[in-house]
Amino acid sequence: DMSGGTDIARRAIHVCAACHGEGGRSASAAYPSLAGQPAQYTARQLKDFRAQQRAEADNKAYMWGVSALLDDDTIQALAEYYAVQAPAPGRARGPDRLLKEGRRLFEDGVPGSGIRACAGCHGERAEGAAGFPRLAGQHADYLERQLKGFSTRLRPHGVLMRAETAGMTAQQMRAVAAYLQSL
Ligand code: HEM
Ligand code: HEM
Repeated sequence: DMSGGTDIARRAIHVCAACHGEGGRSASAAYPSLAGQPAQYTARQLKDFRAQQRAEADNKAYMWGVSALLDDDTIQALAEYYAVQAPAPGRARGPDRLLKEGRRLFEDGVPGSGIRACAGCHGERAEGAAGFPRLAGQHADYLERQLKGFSTRLRPHGVLMRAETAGMTAQQMRAVAAYLQSL
């Protein structure tokens, strides 16, 4: 249902689909999937783009222009639309060994290292909730890019993740991203 901001949102969805795919299930790791993402998280990101506060190069190039045209009602309607779309299915990525390493990191963190269990915030199955994004089925390359990017401080709401990723190695990022894509 798309009451409020309806007409604009209904038309905007076709624009979004050009990159993010039908129903927000994207085919390319250049574009994150949006399907099944909690509405609160999606709305927050769109407002961060619109305020020119989420500021990685790709965000400037692609999302600043699109989001500038959206009012709050349209953002809410878009976020609610994507929240109820069937999520992208998991796609295996890499050898079992890598997936197991990623799973352990996701479920347990690294005790004593300051890396907490990702599941504690993102959910047992990485389904996300409220302001915590769904990670299950997301493109591994996109996830890895975000994990590497939090240290640059170009995401205004990335404070928790900056602390989380500070102690992570590139190998750990690769493993957890591969595991998450497979869910
Ligand atoms: C990122 C929504 C249109 C390209 C995002 C994110 C959201 C979003 C919520 C952040 C996802 C996350 O944090 O997990 C939308 C909506 C659109 C739209 C609602 C339509 C109104 C487009 C279009 C393009 C595009 C038309 C391509 C021309 C991208 C790229 C990223 C992105 C490249 C980020 C990639 C990165 O950070 O690596 N979009 N988008 N989007 N979107 Fe869109
Ligand atoms: C965002 C991964 C632990 C809170 C993200 C994103 C990734 C990620 C890839 C970006 C998603 C996207 O752009 O769509 C992980 C991994 C973790 C972990 C692999 C474990 C090593 C945590 C923990 C918390 C947390 C423990 C809470 C204390 C958040 C929040 C965001 C986020 C609030 C959204 C940031 C924003 O709005 O810009 N996480 N996460 N994460 N994570 Fe985590």
